[in-house]
Amino acid sequence: MSGTIIKISGPTVVAREMAQTRMFNRVAVGRIGLLGEVIRVRRDEATIQVYEDTTGLALGDEVSDAGEPLLVELGPGLLGSIFDGVQRPLDVLAAEHGDWIARGLKLPALPRDRQWVFTPLVRPGTQVAGGACVGAIQETEKIQHRVLVPPGVSGTVLEIRGGTFTVTETIAVLDDDRPLAMLQRWPVRTPRPVAERLPPVVPFITGQRVFDMLFPVASGGTVIVPGGFGTGKTVVEQTLAKYAQADIIIYIGCGERGNEMTEVLADFPHLKDPTTGLPLMQRTVLVINTSNMPVAARETSIYTGITLAEYYRDMGYSVALMADSTSRWAEATREISARLEEMPGEEGYPTYLATKLAEFYERGGCVRCLGQADRQGSVTIVSAISPPGGDFSEPVTQSSMQVAGALWALDSDLAHRRHFPAINWKRSFSLYAAPLDPWFRAQVAPDWPQLRIDLAALLQKEEELQEIVQLVGIDALQDQERIALEVSRLVREEYLRQNAFSQIDAACPLEKQYWILKALLLFLHYCRERLKQGWAIEQLLGSPFRAELERMKETPPRDCVQQARAMIEKMGQEVGK
Ligand SMILES: Nc1ncnc2c1ncn2[C@@H]1O[C@H](COP(=O)(O)OP(=O)(O)O)[C@@H](O)[C@H]1O
Ligand SMILES: [Mg+2]
Repeated sequence: MSGTIIKISGPTVVAREMAQTRMFNRVAVGRIGLLGEVIRVRRDEATIQVYEDTTGLALGDEVSDAGEPLLVELGPGLLGSIFDGVQRPLDVLAAEHGDWIARGLKLPALPRDRQWVFTPLVRPGTQVAGGACVGAIQETEKIQHRVLVPPGVSGTVLEIRGGTFTVTETIAVLDDDRPLAMLQRWPVRTPRPVAERLPPVVPFITGQRVFDMLFPVASGGTVIVPGGFGTGKTVVEQTLAKYAQADIIIYIGCGERGNEMTEVLADFPHLKDPTTGLPLMQRTVLVINTSNMPVAARETSIYTGITLAEYYRDMGYSVALMADSTSRWAEATREISARLEEMPGEEGYPTYLATKLAEFYERGGCVRCLGQADRQGSVTIVSAISPPGGDFSEPVTQSSMQVAGALWALDSDLAHRRHFPAINWKRSFSLYAAPLDPWFRAQVAPDWPQLRIDLAALLQKEEELQEIVQLVGIDALQDQERIALEVSRLVREEYLRQNAFSQIDAACPLEKQYWILKALLLFLHYCRERLKQGWAIEQLLGSPFRAELERMKETPPRDCVQQARAMIEKMGQEVGK
């Protein structure tokens, strides 16, 4: 079915004779077939969002309706890929056409000539339903790709064969002669179904002390990371993409700065997974919006990314979706809404912004997968937000805050003082801390939650003391208070600060996190006892214990844990616990 263009306004096109089309149908626009999506239907007129540069389109040009929505391709070969917001393989385009984007090109997301070794896991005669695993492929060295019956499909397996196949070849036949291939498609705007949503009880371990200890996020949780320009959003996203514990990483980059995406494209392919030593790209998919793409293409990248994440979740993996930043996505919705001449909401954003954001975050979660009782997977969402001027009262931050389970608030003052990660511990929160306590107690140490309480209390105390100092000067403080100030400063410098570019400290295992903090807090106790015994503050500040604490984070984990334990033992012997 096709219509004709009657209006062109930047990336938005209106076509007539489109009465048969439906909202969100995919269309090919103009002679070279630019990719577009129907975003409004009125009588026989369809408004179309075009995801490519519309230069050269003319009135009267044809628009042809695909009769189906924007779909992503799912199957082996996704890992290691670099896609744009509508899943065009940027790396292939660059290799074949020397440019990131040539317009109207229809390259498939998954290579059609690549062959995969498929091993069946069910026999002919087996009854299968949506989500059932019929076979597997070793997609990368560590990741086994499970071929699942698409949601909504069920029947009896008539035939299934092991061997070497391309993604489009038939690997199994269900009754009624329905063929099954590795390649499947899914509409990006529709969440993939699950058997059951589960409460989050396992942490998403980031290797960042301030997150894991103070504001932990569950695997399957959602966290927003708002912060002004230069506060460290991109560093957080990229550090977690490298070091956080997840089977699969989906990284959505919206390109805040000019060459940021070029850097990602240049960097990521060379990065190594710190736990396996294998290329990081073996468990990563990049969804990248370069600056020469229309803003609207960013709007779909979020959906493309989350659909890929859900697909690996359905295989039983823990997936982390890193989005940098969702503000760029929200701005795209604003631009589209303005072109539709919709009634604007706050700051020009569409009135449905909050709903759209909520729908996106709801696609995160910990689930029991469709099709198999004991298969669980998760999608954790870590979403950067760039509020203009770093002002959190703007609509995107506010709406996101209401639906996300945790907030890691980045702070310009801390960033100026080069305290990184520049997490403001008063503004930040996590609703997952209490539900995750049993895990930390059982897996790391019974007093992990207590350390968090003690750490928060110390930071709070420091703040109160600072106010007094500012009002009446340091002399107003007693020695016990002065030492609390000093140790709190030590905690900020040596514990909360963490250099993302340090060989040793870029990621800190939980055990190391625990023992450093325990030693620091015990040092406070030690100092207090010594003061009672008549020691001078200066003597304590010059103590070898303090010097040792200052070296700890840059000490490799095993040595560090040993040293911390020895030190705790010694301090205990000297003053009693
Ligand atoms: N954890 C960190 N360790 C060391 N330096 C950091 C860290 N986080 C941020 N920085 C510094 O801050 C700069 C700006 O961070 P970036 O993530 O690009 O900010 P944003 O994305 O919020 O604009 C980085 O180039 C880096 O020098
Ligand atoms: Mg950035």
